[in-house]
Amino acid sequence: MKTTGNTIFITGGTSGLGLGLALRFHALGNKVIIGGRRKELLDEIAAEHAGIGTVVLDVDDPASIQAAYDEVTSSYPELNAVLTMSGIMHPENLLDPGHLDTAEATITTNLLGTIRTLAKFTPYLMAKQKATILTVSSGLAFVPLAFTPTYNATKAAIHSYTQSLRIQLAGTAVQVIELIPPAVQTALMGQQNDERAMPLEEYLAETMTLLADQPDAAEITVQRVGFLRDAERENRYDQTVAAVNAH
Ligand SMILES: NC(=O)c1ccc[n+]([C@@H]2O[C@H](COP(=O)([O-])OP(=O)(O)OC[C@H]3O[C@@H](n4cnc5c(N)ncnc54)[C@H](OP(=O)(O)O)[C@@H]3O)[C@@H](O)[C@H]2O)c1
Repeated sequence: MKTTGNTIFITGGTSGLGLGLALRFHALGNKVIIGGRRKELLDEIAAEHAGIGTVVLDVDDPASIQAAYDEVTSSYPELNAVLTMSGIMHPENLLDPGHLDTAEATITTNLLGTIRTLAKFTPYLMAKQKATILTVSSGLAFVPLAFTPTYNATKAAIHSYTQSLRIQLAGTAVQVIELIPPAVQTALMGQQNDERAMPLEEYLAETMTLLADQPDAAEITVQRVGFLRDAERENRYDQTVAAVNAH
């Protein structure tokens, strides 16, 4: 994709990676609209960063996705990019049947939320001269962290779904890019200060550089995620699973 001249809607743009990329795209002169459930945070971000659009969105709720779609496409008809960033991550003990609530919530937000959002926006993007869909998986799509089983599974599903979407959209104007972040210092699971996670600003800078330098990229993999993304390809899968789950 080109990193300038877009009108981009970012679900899950109220914090962490979504907000960070929103501000980077905004600084490059793109029109950016962010979505999320926290209305007061949306208002705060809009007040602090003139020109950023906001829309209340709960991707767990199809009616909310429909309302956000209506609002974004009517207020910003030049929309040509959607980044599906909304996601949650919670630990689960699979030996406790109580984990099912977490499993269902995780699938609803991370997987169904993404599929429902893309089902709504893809036809709109297909009518554009040039458009981009960016999905967000994780290094944990490729090597599981046993502590967060359903999270890993939803991210593996997003990876697979994104590949099929790319193939089905081949020959259309829509490019499909998968962001594959490593552990990054955000509030996702309270790892803002975890030294094993990548500093947020470093992740954002490297991601924007890769997007600009590799306009035809299918996957955006910062260097730190290669350890996970390439484990199987490089025949070091078992050691990597052991290393990731050592703590
Ligand atoms: N940080 C990492 O280590 C890491 C690594 C790999 C992948 N990722 C992925 O990156 C994405 C962003 O995570 P983050 O690290 O930036 O965490 P974060 O700061 O917690 O951000 C999560 C975002 O998702 C939104 N969200 C959650 N549930 C939602 C819902 N039902 N409807 C709409 N929006 C919802 C939140 O907004 P509201 O609360 O305002 O709704 C927030 O903007 C996630 O998909 C995550 O899986 C993160």
